[in-house]
Amino acid sequence: MAARLAIRQATLQDYQGVMDIGKIYQGRDYLPALYDKYLNTFNCYVGEMDGEIVTFHGDRLVDAGATIAIAGGRVKERYRGRGIIADVLRYIDNSYKDVTSVKYMTMTTDNLNIILSGERIKRKFAQIFEMVSCLS
Ligand SMILES: CC(C)(COP(=O)(O)OP(=O)(O)OC[C@H]1O[C@@H](n2cnc3c(N)ncnc32)[C@H](O)[C@@H]1OP(=O)(O)O)[C@@H](O)C(=O)NCCC(=O)NCCS
Repeated sequence: MAARLAIRQATLQDYQGVMDIGKIYQGRDYLPALYDKYLNTFNCYVGEMDGEIVTFHGDRLVDAGATIAIAGGRVKERYRGRGIIADVLRYIDNSYKDVTSVKYMTMTTDNLNIILSGERIKRKFAQIFEMVSCLS
């Protein structure tokens, strides 16, 4: 467990703190425009260290309760590599411990993340499909 990480439900008032986590997806991040929709559609969490929001994550149950779909996960750059997202995923997993229908957790990610952490991710997640775009 990352030291001092306090995970709680995200609120509308956390908007700036979540945006201050930093720019991701090379400027194509959807969260700035969809933050309020995310709060209504997903269970959204922030993680704070000493009062500073250092991580955000969303999840929701799909497939008639069989799958936890996670989305929007991010960690502030200088806090990466300390097991913070792993802690958040454990927290989410634990929040469903009494839901007996759950069989899977699913996520999507971009190529950069696969280049940087693909081996580690594939130790926990099986790849189901890959989107390839062709520019002509
Ligand atoms: C990807 C990111 C969230 C990883 O956060 P982090 O706190 O540095 O990651 P951790 O230190 O917890 O290490 C990653 C661990 O979580 C697992 N993991 C689960 N989902 C992951 C993901 N989307 N990306 C990377 N690791 C992930 C890894 O398998 C690894 O497990 P291990 O420690 O057993 O090997 C962070 O680098 C980031 O914010 N990147 C920019 C935004 C982004 O690409 N988000 C991904 C959306 S899917």
